[in-house]
Amino acid sequence: MSEADACPFSNRDDRKSAALAEAEARPDAGFAPIVNFDFARDVMRSPAMVQGMEADYFKDKEPSKVPVIFLDGELHKKRRAQLARYFTPKAIKDRHRKVMDQTTDEVMAQLRRTGRGQLDVMSLRLACDVAAEIVGLTNTDPDAMSNRLRKKFTASGKRKRPGLAGKLGALEDVVRTLWFFKRDVVPAIRHRQKHDRDDVISFLVREGYSDQEILVECMTYATAGMITTREFIVMCAWHLLEKEDLRRQFLEGGEDVQFAILDEVLRIDPVAAYVYRKAEADMTATDGRVVKAGEQFLVDIRNINLDEEATGACPFAIDPERSKRQKMPSNWMSFADGPHRCPGAQVAMHETRVFLDALLRVPGIRLARKPTMGWIEEINGYELHGAIVECDPSR
Ligand code: HEM
Repeated sequence: MSEADACPFSNRDDRKSAALAEAEARPDAGFAPIVNFDFARDVMRSPAMVQGMEADYFKDKEPSKVPVIFLDGELHKKRRAQLARYFTPKAIKDRHRKVMDQTTDEVMAQLRRTGRGQLDVMSLRLACDVAAEIVGLTNTDPDAMSNRLRKKFTASGKRKRPGLAGKLGALEDVVRTLWFFKRDVVPAIRHRQKHDRDDVISFLVREGYSDQEILVECMTYATAGMITTREFIVMCAWHLLEKEDLRRQFLEGGEDVQFAILDEVLRIDPVAAYVYRKAEADMTATDGRVVKAGEQFLVDIRNINLDEEATGACPFAIDPERSKRQKMPSNWMSFADGPHRCPGAQVAMHETRVFLDALLRVPGIRLARKPTMGWIEEINGYELHGAIVECDPSR
């Protein structure tokens, strides 16, 4: 019997972003795609591999002032160790959970008052508040900052438009980035120059980063941590609001069941479609394959997460039992692996769970309008905007 015959879900395909990714994803040329889970893991974990994403902007910059995602080797290891304190289970439990609960309560209270809410605006507010607390962007009104960042990322999407529209989009992007810098980043830096705190900006101030270098770090977190989580929350909400059985399972299950459902959504609809790696030295994978120094890889997260040898039967169907049954990591390749593996993975999982648990318990909650899908190059992934939820307004 083939794997497909063994599928208990009649070969169901639950993916929502596959067709969009197929049409829109434009990975750089010259990188060999990896779609096999085991080989991907070997590559990602190998000390012979370095980040393959190039950023001309940082080429002439002092290495110690480059954002963590572009670093490698000892400097990267040291930076990750310095940042680890903000992402431990204890930090999530003692610090970030408070922000998650408080913002979720505020956002849901607003939804119940008005009977209507735009999902991506609601989810960005939560993603911003949580990442802002880690980064130290806490000296301005959070709702206004979330709006400024939303407009900034909408503007950067306009850069791709042809002709004059693209030029105007690029200009608007610069202006909105400077506005975010002036209104949110500078006040946070000035405050921390006088009062040291336990967050990323305080650390950068102590390390002697300039205002501009701190802005670059903030933009890294805004992209890597805020936009990604905004999309993840909306994608999960979309699946759960549409699938009654899955929603019931989520609401009746404990935290383990809830996380397993979120992990499955992220497996079939991963927010980041791919990352790049380059070999600096030769390496031999566990299956004996030899990689030569200089080889470049496109780590195709979308397809790696569907590798039937790892997932078992029915790779396109949401099956919360899957990772346990297959003895696979619960996050699959969705947050990458190895030294650059997303440090914010558990933060993102927790905030998404907290938000959805509250949203799905709102009386009369329903999806009034599905999201419109787009593609964002900053995260190499999908963007879901304009989804509207409605509920029975509170009296
Ligand atoms: C669902 C939400 C998220 C997804 C899908 C995601 C995905 C990823 C992926 C795939 C990488 C690896 C990039 C590479 O290997 O080149 C990464 C790195 C990173 N992520 Fe996330 N992320 C999420 C949330 C967050 C959050 C909440 C934060 C922080 C508040 C964060 C901060 C970072 C940072 C700083 C890096 C760079 C790490 C390094 O290069 O060492 N991410 N993320």
